[in-house]
Amino acid sequence: MAEDRSNELIAEQHHHLRALAGRIKQASTRDDIAPLLPELLSSLQVHFAAEEGPGGVMETIQEAAPERSRQVEALVGEHRSMLGTVGLLLSEDLSGDFVATAHKVCDELTRHEAEENDLFLEVLETDIGGRG
Ligand SMILES: [Fe+2]
Ligand SMILES: [Fe+2]
Repeated sequence: MAEDRSNELIAEQHHHLRALAGRIKQASTRDDIAPLLPELLSSLQVHFAAEEGPGGVMETIQEAAPERSRQVEALVGEHRSMLGTVGLLLSEDLSGDFVATAHKVCDELTRHEAEENDLFLEVLETDIGGRG
């Protein structure tokens, strides 16, 4: 079923992103983190586009539970915010602490994916690999 394939793809992306975020969290210097950021940005762009696109998890949740649209909008807003932060880290225009900001965006991603997974699970009773 097409929907199963799409959920499988999303779950694979979640697995990849979790591993990448784990590597960034383990790195403690700007020199170790910076080379991982282009991959983080492109993986997030691909992942968020898949989630927000036609047949993606956001549309699936909206269709199954229109009353949860505010939660879906909040999750989509978090996508924009995380992309903005990673973009800032890459642009070197960041005013705050580089390592702390990179670690914070990884924590935000972990929390976001867990919340997204819980919402999906609650509405559709399907695990999309966003939590552990
Ligand atoms: Fe998401
Ligand atoms: Fe996700």
